[in-house]
Amino acid sequence: MMINITVEDRNGERQQLEIPDDISLSLMEVLKASEYHILATCGGMALCATCHVQVLEGGERLGNANDQELDMLDTLPDAGSDSRLACQLRIDQSMDGAVFRILGATEE
Ligand code: FES
Repeated sequence: MMINITVEDRNGERQQLEIPDDISLSLMEVLKASEYHILATCGGMALCATCHVQVLEGGERLGNANDQELDMLDTLPDAGSDSRLACQLRIDQSMDGAVFRILGATEE
């Protein structure tokens, strides 16, 4: 099965990504592999917040953020209730049809 997501970059340009649902990757890793500029300084440990994304559609189907992710999002001035850390989102069927806007900082 394939999962289709839509990614909006920092310039507002949207692209559809088709991802096999059996790859064991996070959304952050998929975005990096798709040539999006994501620093991901902490390597996916929910410690740097440079993988910040806003979930424009489909957020209610994703699993809830854990305390560590919520604490890190709390430190971001531009985070809202639809903010997530892409490194904490595993690729799976619940993501199909979701729309993500990339927000994370490009330098630290
Ligand atoms: S990669 Fe650092 S918080 Fe997601």
